[in-house]
Amino acid sequence: MERLDKWLCSQTTVTRSEAGRLIRAGCVTVDGQVCRSPAQKVEPAAQVMLNGRALTYERHVYWMLNKPAGILCVSRDPKVQTVVDLLPEEARRRGIFPAGRLDKDTHGLVLLTDDGAFAHAMLSPRRHVPKRYHAVLDKPLDDVAAEAFRAGPLLADGTQCLPAQLRVLQDNGRPLVEVVLYEGKFHQIKRMFAAVGRHVEWLKRVAIGGLVLDETLPEGQVRPLTEAEKLSIFNENFSTNL
Ligand code: URA
Repeated sequence: MERLDKWLCSQTTVTRSEAGRLIRAGCVTVDGQVCRSPAQKVEPAAQVMLNGRALTYERHVYWMLNKPAGILCVSRDPKVQTVVDLLPEEARRRGIFPAGRLDKDTHGLVLLTDDGAFAHAMLSPRRHVPKRYHAVLDKPLDDVAAEAFRAGPLLADGTQCLPAQLRVLQDNGRPLVEVVLYEGKFHQIKRMFAAVGRHVEWLKRVAIGGLVLDETLPEGQVRPLTEAEKLSIFNENFSTNL
């Protein structure tokens, strides 16, 4: 059981004092009855409505976002639109953040959650959860580049990367390639290709572990992960899907 004002805060973006004000003003019903006491104890499974909108209690939320280019991959920014700003009103709640970063000009799969422990497990360098990307390069690859990726590219600043998987999906002068990384360094794909004399013209993340971006999800939109999708992030069989 939890206080109603606390319950409301955990499931929406309202602050504790706003929750108290809304409750006292009669905007909140619990199991069909208006409740004007912020201290009222409620079950997690209680049927709570705020201004006529039903709120379903969820301990944590997990949203798949198909990120468009041009959106900053952080929780908040005073000037620029962020991935969290793309959430529809009913999906907004306190503490949501992108689990892992994509560059502003990168497209594709981002997980938005308020579950810090889950994000930590997913991003932990010790777990080596693979991230799969598609990239368009400015010029074809050669055997030297392919070998550098197999061995683990050495970046211009001397940083040694772990071996990465690389395969060409289409080669028409500006190849479309697939890369699988087992770590997450700053601008890693762009820097890895720069180290072999290639420029990344377009970049999209298509999978994290066994979680594949839903290609029916339009850019800029979110949908909740299913329980199976959530667990698939840690599916070690991912690399055999390539
Ligand atoms: N590597 C990059 O260079 N950029 C990204 O956004 C992700 C991986």
